[in-house]
Amino acid sequence: MSAPESVLDLVPVLPVVVVEDVATAVPLARALVAGGLPAIELTLRTPAALDAIRAIAAEVPEIALGAGTVTSAAQAAAAVEAGAAFLVSPGCTPGLLAALQATGVPFLPGTSTVSEVMTVLEAGVTSMKFFPAEASGGAPYLRSVADPLPQARFCPTGGIRVASAPAYLALPNVGCVGGTWITPADAVAAGDWERIGKLAAEAAALG
Ligand code: 3PG
Repeated sequence: MSAPESVLDLVPVLPVVVVEDVATAVPLARALVAGGLPAIELTLRTPAALDAIRAIAAEVPEIALGAGTVTSAAQAAAAVEAGAAFLVSPGCTPGLLAALQATGVPFLPGTSTVSEVMTVLEAGVTSMKFFPAEASGGAPYLRSVADPLPQARFCPTGGIRVASAPAYLALPNVGCVGGTWITPADAVAAGDWERIGKLAAEAAALG
């Protein structure tokens, strides 16, 4: 899949994925596509992450492939070189914001305060991540931000599960939510792609 126009409008639930073993990357991505969620935020939290991005880019081109947990300019460049079509960061410094912009691919900088949202807006970026969502005030907090800053749109993540996702998705400033619940570590380790496909289908139905 080529770079998406807006990361927030790809899928209602963006699977946030941790890959420990590169051999799981391709079947996991295929299970998400089969379940109706053709997008993935593959986090740069493990030594296998960049190879996993390379493998998915080569073998599952129909998925919108993003790299998550991008915290440095070097990681941003490496992820795009590996095949990431979009980037997601948990937070945002001025240096990282400039580095994300320099990559030329869409990205969601992380925000959790009104001032951070305003900093990102000042840079001309209106799509962002809200993290850690539940710990930072959850859906009521984001609802409050919509009044003074309606141009900011969010992908909230952090502590969101299938039961709490609809409250976020009902907000005018939320395009999608993200979370790890679609790809539980035990299911990935066991190669239980059927279970992951079912969790993806359940999440896709929230859209
Ligand atoms: C993220 O990077 O978005 C978080 O790690 C999401 O994790 P959680 O869905 O398990 O809270």
